Amino acid sequence: MDVHRCKQTKEKEAASDGAGPVPNRQPDLTGMQLMTGTQRKGLRFFLATPAATEALGKLLGSLARNGDVFCLSGDLGAGKTLLSKGAAVSLGAREEDVTSPTFSLMNVYNGISMEIRHFDLYRLNSPEELTDIGFYEYAGGDGVTLIEWADLFTSELPPEYLQITLELAPAGRQAELFPVGPRYEALCEEVLRYVDSGIGHSH
Ligand SMILES: Nc1ncnc2c1ncn2[C@@H]1O[C@H](COP(=O)(O)OP(=O)(O)OP(=O)(O)O)[C@@H](O)[C@H]1O
Ligand SMILES: [Mg+2]
Repeated sequence: MDVHRCKQTKEKEAASDGAGPVPNRQPDLTGMQLMTGTQRKGLRFFLATPAATEALGKLLGSLARNGDVFCLSGDLGAGKTLLSKGAAVSLGAREEDVTSPTFSLMNVYNGISMEIRHFDLYRLNSPEELTDIGFYEYAGGDGVTLIEWADLFTSELPPEYLQITLELAPAGRQAELFPVGPRYEALCEEVLRYVDSGIGHSH
């Protein structure tokens, strides 16, 4: 499956699915390549550049719905914050507002139709600390929840979420999207349809 085969590009357009306008419906996917041999229900991508990491985030943000939870895992510097930034900006957050929550633990951004809560669990040690920062109240509640270092607290995650795993690769990153629950299986199908259609690829 080679997503570079189609040369079609389209103007960005605002679209509405009843939940308000969705910005950046057609993110530029240049540098993002769906990998063949995708296993299980997951989707694997090679991300050649930081822009491609951000674009995958934008694509996920453009498909996100109220209540969605995206869990991000991967080594230090794998690209979790950059992908989160793409998702948040796509939902309407101001680019300059989106920063790493490594020290703040949680950032809240105002999207166009909902809030985005962006956690980083790296510095936390116990579920009690999760309670203190409002994690259980927010994760999966109203808005979209982005959780960096979610793998440090797998037993504390909501029952359904999209697992996004980033890995350092020679000359870029690899990303795997793995759905936990039917909502995220449907989301992965939407991602696959979008990417495989070639929309958003400029070459
Ligand atoms: N596909 C890519 N190719 C090359 N560099 C990338 C790619 N994606 C992200 N990067 C770069 O990796 C660096 C780290 O990104 P980022 O801060 O998002 O990582 P992180 O996983 O959030 O790190 P941390 O574990 O510290 O939270 C940034 O300089 C970013 O531009
Ligand atoms: Mg980070």
